[in-house]
Amino acid sequence: MTPPAPSRPRVVLTTTAAVDGRITLRRDQLLLDPSVGERWRAALPADVEGLVRRRDARVEAQHHPTVTLEGSGSFVTDDAVSPWAVEGGLRDHPDHLPRTAPRWFAVVDGRGRVGWTFTGDDETALLVLVCRRTPPGYLARLRELGVGWLVCGDDRVDLARAVGRMGTELGVRAVRADGGGGVNGALMRAGLVDELHVVTVPVLVGGLGTPTFLDGEPLEPDGVPVRLRVVGAEHGDAGSVWTHYEVVEGGT
Ligand SMILES: NC(=O)c1ccc[n+]([C@@H]2O[C@H](COP(=O)([O-])OP(=O)(O)OC[C@H]3O[C@@H](n4cnc5c(N)ncnc54)[C@H](OP(=O)(O)O)[C@@H]3O)[C@@H](O)[C@H]2O)c1
Repeated sequence: MTPPAPSRPRVVLTTTAAVDGRITLRRDQLLLDPSVGERWRAALPADVEGLVRRRDARVEAQHHPTVTLEGSGSFVTDDAVSPWAVEGGLRDHPDHLPRTAPRWFAVVDGRGRVGWTFTGDDETALLVLVCRRTPPGYLARLRELGVGWLVCGDDRVDLARAVGRMGTELGVRAVRADGGGGVNGALMRAGLVDELHVVTVPVLVGGLGTPTFLDGEPLEPDGVPVRLRVVGAEHGDAGSVWTHYEVVEGGT
């Protein structure tokens, strides 16, 4: 197993995707919307549930990730605007950690767009990753809700810094990245993805711009693909496949 850079937590990406890599039906439709989620799930064969359960158990047993990382795109669509957005420059917000819990649900929300309903329970605390550009009104709202944040980066969240600080300041050893293609793509371009568990389901979605599990910035003009080593693969009895890969070269 290739170790991550010293002191940074291992980042394990998990996803459930169509054969064409799509993870939802359209860019303007969130799986959290019950009618969208229902249509997505109705298209998946019955073997997915068991494969996902076994995959999750494997990741848990092997790495004990204490952070699940998502992007704001799982909660709001691209056109969502922060109600707290203000003109202005960068601010020196301090971090805010009003509570700890055995696990963290960490979400990148540098633009302060998500209106939170779930803020955690005894087992898991919501942690929002923000930056110096994040609207102060949003942070005031998080404070009211008892939700913590880490300030990492200036104009947007610096993911390398965020992952590193989760290790050094929260004692996190492994992060499970379970978000969409935007945050996953940014993690990969920053060379932060160590391992992937992809459950591929035998459906096609198509559509230019429909989120895949890895979007983000294109390769540099002289860039080369990130090489993977297959660690294992398990087939369900209805055509779904869980494949476990390890990154053998940095994803930058
Ligand atoms: N099938 C599945 O298992 C699955 C899982 C998760 C999501 N989904 C679906 O996927 C869709 C969401 O995917 P998405 O790609 O639109 O959203 P996303 O993955 O959440 O991507 C947007 C997030 O990435 C951050 N980001 C993007 N580039 C960055 C960079 N260079 N540096 C730092 N942060 C960066 C953004 O930060 P800011 O917020 O700070 O701008 C934002 O938080 C939704 O429809 C959701 O339902 C499906």
